[in-house]
Amino acid sequence: MDWKVTDREATGDVMLLPLWQSKSKAPHNSLNGLPRSTISNVKSALSGQRFNGKIGSTLSIWSDNCRVVLIGMGEVDELTHKTARDAGAKAIAGLSKKDGTDLTVRFTTGWNLEGMKWFVEGMMLRDYAFLKYRKKDREEAEEKGNWNLTIQASERYLTDLKADMKIVAARVDGVHLARDLGNEPPNHLYPMAYAERAQNWANGKNNVKVEVYDWERLQKEDMGGLINVGKGSSRKPCMVIFTVNPNVDPKAQVPCIVGKGITFDTGGISLKPGASMDEMKYDMHGAATVFGLMYALQASGHKGRVHGIACLAENMPSAEAYRPGDVIPTYSGKTIEVLNTDAEGRNVLADGLWKSGELNPAYVVDLATLTGAVVVALGHEATGLWSNNDDLQERIHKAGNEEDEIAWKMPLLPAFEKEMTGSKIADVRNLGKSRWGGSCTAAAFLKQFVPPRDFDEDNDQIPWAHLDIAGTAWGADTNAMVSHGATGIHVRTLHRLITQASSSN
Ligand code: BES
Ligand code: MN
Ligand code: ZN
Repeated sequence: MDWKVTDREATGDVMLLPLWQSKSKAPHNSLNGLPRSTISNVKSALSGQRFNGKIGSTLSIWSDNCRVVLIGMGEVDELTHKTARDAGAKAIAGLSKKDGTDLTVRFTTGWNLEGMKWFVEGMMLRDYAFLKYRKKDREEAEEKGNWNLTIQASERYLTDLKADMKIVAARVDGVHLARDLGNEPPNHLYPMAYAERAQNWANGKNNVKVEVYDWERLQKEDMGGLINVGKGSSRKPCMVIFTVNPNVDPKAQVPCIVGKGITFDTGGISLKPGASMDEMKYDMHGAATVFGLMYALQASGHKGRVHGIACLAENMPSAEAYRPGDVIPTYSGKTIEVLNTDAEGRNVLADGLWKSGELNPAYVVDLATLTGAVVVALGHEATGLWSNNDDLQERIHKAGNEEDEIAWKMPLLPAFEKEMTGSKIADVRNLGKSRWGGSCTAAAFLKQFVPPRDFDEDNDQIPWAHLDIAGTAWGADTNAMVSHGATGIHVRTLHRLITQASSSN
């Protein structure tokens, strides 16, 4: 979507007019520059109560060469970020480029800066489709081009709105990048293909750094989690380490975000059943979010240093594959008893989490499509959020709420840790003793690989939080921001967490 911010003058092919409830008159300035016939049609629609402005209501008014869509926003003092984003998303979803791509959204009396940002962000987030492999749709989309959006607001908001919209657009691009990576089929996006994309992104930018640990480097580093999960595939595993603003404050403690990147999860030797196995192409969404976040931070001009680690592997059964019963080493030096090769995400994250300790992070957040059990618990409505630090957990929960990306607090109980460290043959087992509490035992497993500060066992663990996004990375049909496929979940949550903290410092 191309966009610009102007005051309320002329309009394009279509004008969106978001209006408040129980107003029988068009607000001041709302009909500037419209053809006479349109003005009178809008006025009569409002006075005749054909449109009441209730949340979710819309009315399209066609006249001559102009279409105005009235959008009900409810009562002005009841607007929330959720209703505003949803309304923006639904508005764009209801339009067709066949009616013209010059689009205006005109904000009138009662709209403030925040509200306008939310509404347009909803429009932008929803304006996404993955058409790469559909010739006809792709060609049609290329021919029609992008939406050409004019955002119109009162004079006094224009300067701030222009500046803020740049950040909104950068974040949305990051979300869309994460969706692109998630939606990409697994024969196209395998571990080293992700790494190449990351390197291409970093090329020519002096404020980002991307380092790739390939198959050989993984051996040198003894990253047994990644090696063992990935070795059954002809597409070998790798680790991608991102840094935004690598030269800023080299001694300061800054955030590090770690993502599970299983580009396809067959389950390995503990093979998954066939139904919906194709969806396991999304099993790299944690890594997709890491990349999307790095993109958003750089594009929005974030000044602080931030680290990202993507743990990439394809989990395949083969003569080379790891097997149930194996005891595998990890980067931390701890061993894992593999009881199920389908519990692979935690094995690769073990290496990523331990690696993060070398970057002396202020805190570590991991994202992973880790367990089916979290989908049983929370459906597609919320991510599960575990942490060893109440303050960090609360900050992520709040940032998620603000972005309408709910992260629900879940418990890290000592009993779960005991269960996962109760192997007779290795330091940690990769499967709980029963299926109960499957996402909690997975989180308790990960905690065993969160390093103590400076790797000194006398120190506390680094503050860490784990986001299980198995239910929110795709398939969330109540999410108005997404029509189909990968959601790009938590790019915005983490962008907020990271940028807010640094602006209040
Ligand atoms: N990637 C899956 C988790 C998953 C399943 C995400 C369904 C989304 C939908 C993960 O690697 C996995 O297979 N987890 C197992 C763990 C079990 C073997 C302990 C699961 O959830 O069944
Ligand atoms: Mn699995
Ligand atoms: Zn998996």
